[in-house]
Amino acid sequence: MATENSPKEQNIESAQSPVVTINLVKNTGIITIDYAPVNALSQAVRIGLVHAIESLEINDDVKVIIIRCQGKTFIAGADIKEFGKPATQPYFPDVVNTIEACSKPVIASLFGTSLGGGFEVALACHYRIAYSTAKVGMPEVNLGLIPGAGGTQRLMRILGPEQALEMITSGRHISVTKFTESNLFDVITENDLDQQSQIFAQQLISDNNLTPRRVGEMSVNSSDFDWQAAKTNIIKKARGKQAPAVAFDVLEQTQKMNVSDGMAYEREQFLKLRASEQSAALIHAFAAEKQAAKLNSKAQPVEVINVGIIGGGNMGSGIATCFLTANFNVQLIEQSNEALEAGLARIKNNFSSNVKRGRMNQSAPDACLARLNSSTDYQSLSHCDLVLEAVFENIEVKKALFQKVVAVCKPETVLATNTSYLDIDEIAASINRPEQLVGMHFFSPANIMKLLEIVKADKTSEKVIATAMQVGKKLKKVSVLVGVCFGFAGNRMYTRYGREVQQMLLEGAKVEQIDNAMTNWGMAMGPLAVQDMSGIDIGHSARSAQPFPTHDKGYFRAAATLVEANRLGRKTQAGFYQYDENGKKHHAAEVDTLLFEKAQQLGIKQRIFSDEDIVQRALFALISEGLALLKAGIVQRMSDIDAIWLHGYGFPRYKGGPMFQASQIGKAQVEQKLAEFREEFSEAIWPVVDVDLLR
Ligand code: 3HC
Repeated sequence: MATENSPKEQNIESAQSPVVTINLVKNTGIITIDYAPVNALSQAVRIGLVHAIESLEINDDVKVIIIRCQGKTFIAGADIKEFGKPATQPYFPDVVNTIEACSKPVIASLFGTSLGGGFEVALACHYRIAYSTAKVGMPEVNLGLIPGAGGTQRLMRILGPEQALEMITSGRHISVTKFTESNLFDVITENDLDQQSQIFAQQLISDNNLTPRRVGEMSVNSSDFDWQAAKTNIIKKARGKQAPAVAFDVLEQTQKMNVSDGMAYEREQFLKLRASEQSAALIHAFAAEKQAAKLNSKAQPVEVINVGIIGGGNMGSGIATCFLTANFNVQLIEQSNEALEAGLARIKNNFSSNVKRGRMNQSAPDACLARLNSSTDYQSLSHCDLVLEAVFENIEVKKALFQKVVAVCKPETVLATNTSYLDIDEIAASINRPEQLVGMHFFSPANIMKLLEIVKADKTSEKVIATAMQVGKKLKKVSVLVGVCFGFAGNRMYTRYGREVQQMLLEGAKVEQIDNAMTNWGMAMGPLAVQDMSGIDIGHSARSAQPFPTHDKGYFRAAATLVEANRLGRKTQAGFYQYDENGKKHHAAEVDTLLFEKAQQLGIKQRIFSDEDIVQRALFALISEGLALLKAGIVQRMSDIDAIWLHGYGFPRYKGGPMFQASQIGKAQVEQKLAEFREEFSEAIWPVVDVDLLR
């Protein structure tokens, strides 16, 4: 946050590190960290900080010290890029202890997001001044970790165990304005932050108030805190993640210790978590998301301001809600006024539900809806920079629609289809600007789900892809570039996963057993409960449009059998489960009978499944298909597949994604297991794949 008042007086010394500099302004030593993009605590920053504190401490001209950052944020944490490498000195806990032990008052000057190690630095400082829009947080749990440099200790001292535990176990970034009741911040300002920090420093000097005020010397007030209730709540919310429970343990065990012993215990637990598979998986997930956004081409995106959305059904209205929320202007098109009204009502409903669930404040929907126009006339799309269709899945309907769009839009308008399965190359071939057409495949509900597949057709230009990726970023989606094939990357793998689940049903695994095995393993929902929710007939009719794979006699026969029996899922109160009038699901004995009879008819051998058998079959089906996608170049990188599964299909983040799992299992074992399945079932179903693609 470089401002007019950024320190520019006397540069008293160039620090050893090029990323940390020291200036002296009126008896205040100002330490500036300048390490883009987020001032993470790399070794260079740590060296620079220690050197800066030590040299200012012995400088008699300096009475007070300020730590500030250049760029878009105060320190956003330890440097994630250094994780997995041998630790280097100075170790971070020693850095924060050096700051807290400094004999002169140290002020942290916070803006942007002060996270993890960054917040720990701030807590080790003796005073904290924050810009009013700043946020703070301990997001280590999102990386399978706990704070590792005194964060548990100092936060518990300053906020008390309840609030500290809430912050540390949720990982939430919290506005500094929420802490006005506590002693966390000495000043929260809307004025120039550097200027306010310097005024504060001058005040300390003029008041001769120069004894450092150390959080580490405070005691913990935990007398009336119900540790047992907190533990139950934390474990319930953690849903399989280890770090929140470890954080709880650290706070509980250390509440009566001095800060130094508490930090030693915290560090021990932090290092154990650092070596854990969950942490490796979560760090992989963080990197996979960042990586997915990166394109190999240098093409520049075109600016998109006005967006046309054709179709106001569930998908189109969800997509429109996303665009409006992200400040785009939206022109909604429907076939009739009646359909248009229904679409507008859905959009309004999405916004109301956002407000109700606390995702938006009360006044935000009005500003969004003011940017929405609607019409039944395609001519109203003429000014749009991007036109996206979300109409019925029929290729002829989509071809005809794009003919009409091309006739009214600018040549540079990006044309996007939200199709889930149709051949985008074929749609592109039907218009005179095939290079302008791209797939933008949203996942339902589009205003909630983070995943967006950007589908590159044969002729899609690099500029159009760059534009679609940039739009995805503005929509705050995890956008992943994929190629054209039936189902693209996500749904093609989902079909393979579904096939295996369906086959296991015919081999005698029970509905509840499959769902429980998968959810106990970590999947957000059981695959059969998902089918009931989305409607078994939907997938069935999409598959019926494709030739039946004759090599696979059980191919989705369980679903077909249920559709024939009019058990379509929740909507008929009968699917893989039976539903009562309150929507609660129950075992459906009829399904056992129907599936057993179908298996007999098809001559499918029955077996006993363990939960592990079920998970292995499902997971290896995903791995096998993922490797096939990589080989075919449908996805750019292994980690892209993981990003897709983490954000589109409820794969447990702490397991990293199916391809991360494959890497953990190891090439040799993956190869052996796939060979066993191939031998047992057939090469057509378990084809030979290139395991060398695994890293
Ligand atoms: N270390 C290294 N690089 C980081 C980083 C970190 N802690 N945090 C973000 N980055 C990088 C990103 O990888 C990205 O790099 P790229 O441009 O090459 O892709 C770049 O900074 C910008 O990040 P975003 O695209 O995410 O930018 P946003 O503005 O959307 O978000 C952010 C910024 C809120 C800081 C977000 O990046 C974030 O949440 N980062 C993770 C912060 C975190 O987890 N900190 C705790 C680390 S663990 C720790 O501190 C342990 C300690 O207790 C010992």
